[in-house]
Amino acid sequence: FLYNILSAFGFGPLLGMAAVPTAEIQKYEGSFFSFIKGVLGGDLQTLAGGPLFLLLAVYYKKYGPVFNLAFGPKSFLIVNDPVMAKHILKSNVDAYDKGVLAEILEPIMGKGLIPADPETWKVRRRVIVPGFHKKWLNTMVTLFADCGDRLNDDIEQVVKRGNAVEMEERFCSVSLDIIGKAVFNYDFGSVQKESPVVKAVYRTLREAEHRSLSVIPYWNLPYADKWMEGQVEFSKDMGMLDDILADLINGCIKTRKEASVEELEERDNSDDPSLLRFLVDMRDEDLSSKQLRDDLMTMLIAGHETTAAVLTWTLFELSRGDPRMLEDIQDEIDEVMKGKSRPDYDDIVAMKKLRMALIESLRLYPEPPILIRRALKDDVLPAGGSNLKNGIKVLKGSDIFISTWNLHRSKELWGEDAEIFDPTRWDRNFANGDVEGWEGYNAENVRGLYPNEIASDFSFLPFGGGQRKCVGDQFAVMEATVVMAMLLQKFEFTFTGNAEDVGMRTGATIHTMNGLNMIPREKGSRTLTLRGEGGDRGGYWAEKNGRNG
Ligand code: HEM
Repeated sequence: FLYNILSAFGFGPLLGMAAVPTAEIQKYEGSFFSFIKGVLGGDLQTLAGGPLFLLLAVYYKKYGPVFNLAFGPKSFLIVNDPVMAKHILKSNVDAYDKGVLAEILEPIMGKGLIPADPETWKVRRRVIVPGFHKKWLNTMVTLFADCGDRLNDDIEQVVKRGNAVEMEERFCSVSLDIIGKAVFNYDFGSVQKESPVVKAVYRTLREAEHRSLSVIPYWNLPYADKWMEGQVEFSKDMGMLDDILADLINGCIKTRKEASVEELEERDNSDDPSLLRFLVDMRDEDLSSKQLRDDLMTMLIAGHETTAAVLTWTLFELSRGDPRMLEDIQDEIDEVMKGKSRPDYDDIVAMKKLRMALIESLRLYPEPPILIRRALKDDVLPAGGSNLKNGIKVLKGSDIFISTWNLHRSKELWGEDAEIFDPTRWDRNFANGDVEGWEGYNAENVRGLYPNEIASDFSFLPFGGGQRKCVGDQFAVMEATVVMAMLLQKFEFTFTGNAEDVGMRTGATIHTMNGLNMIPREKGSRTLTLRGEGGDRGGYWAEKNGRNG
């Protein structure tokens, strides 16, 4: 009990739980008062006086590629440099694990891929990756379109009634329906209705986010699930989801038809194309239902609000930018789709402007905005863009935040227009940075559906990098392209108020503060109003693309 209370208030290091990091010491400049308020409020957001990644952005401008952030006895090394990020995520990956993140997520995801310790991770990653094979991804395109149809039907009703609609919430529903079917063949049906199960999923996600922002591991307090407000409900929700997953897993095991990976890839799986089916049918696989439960729960959480956030911020940026940017993308959709209402894989490949808009939104709003690691042994980070030519010493136990938000918005890496939403930047080459080892991004090097961390030499980490990189990257890009193409083919949107009203709040992903409240109309019915001609972002985009007047 004492251990929990002390570690709750950050005194773990005194108990030998973790060593306090070294390196550059730049003191957190928040007042003692704000620290106490943060501790009492129980979350880092309060502590930081706003989303933590925004506080880190202020310090990045002041202190550069690497600095230490200390909240009282807690301390984090903040890395904002592609060379250091590459070292941690790829070159010396065995020296790091997920640290704080794993501690927080373990009670929810168990030994699923995200929090998994290196030994479990090695085994499970090898089992899960084949499930994302090409034929399966192709089948998924049909599922994306089915769910896109549901969303469009729903928006159609809103248009008829002349109402406004909260699009962030709709995107969350559509991505929940997709991930439920894709991962365990369960139809949440959340676009149409909000069931107790859907509510339980959302409350679980909110709790996971609250935990990740908390400086006090309140959930570890003795019997918290029996008496603590929120925890009692959380444990009921988890119980409900666990029961559903157990039924699905047991049902699948009962109808198991063992086969090799190659046979499974060729099998007609139209009845049940889920990853669960694939994992259960895989020959010689250990069918521990606890491990399967952890894998499924992890993918449900990892693949849901991340994609919803990409859709949300893309629609946000396209709706507030120069209307011709959106028009250009809608023209591309019409040209590619040629009157069809459901895209196939080739259409996804052909809709490059749309894909680059989605990717550009992942640059400006990376999900999650911070990657978390802990050093398992002493290490030295390369100097990268810092002036610490001997590198940066990292002691075993140091907690590290890699700020993808800062990397993605760095003027040194992306040029003066780093903070501007401009999907056409991905057609250009820019190697204007002076960071050592940074080769710059070369559009020629891009292979596949999106410019990844390799093409940008770790300056762009939309899906992380190295061996713990996202397993669902292609799935997510395809899903977002299909849903957005179907939506923009039929509708256009205006804000109910000002774009600035949308606001931003942090969680595991970046959420809006007040919702993405939009008025949808049939495409072509809106009067184009050119904002910022020659002035703000609209003028900027037109100038870059030779579109004047
Ligand atoms: C890992 C982002 C969609 C499953 C990650 C990581 C990032 C990420 C940045 C690395 C985390 C780290 O290094 O700490 C995203 C984004 C998505 C998305 C932005 C949507 C746009 C998905 C989907 C799935 C998924 C659809 C599953 C169907 C996973 C899993 C991991 C992961 C299992 C852990 C991989 C490992 O440690 O081996 N994701 N993800 N993600 N993601 Fe995604």
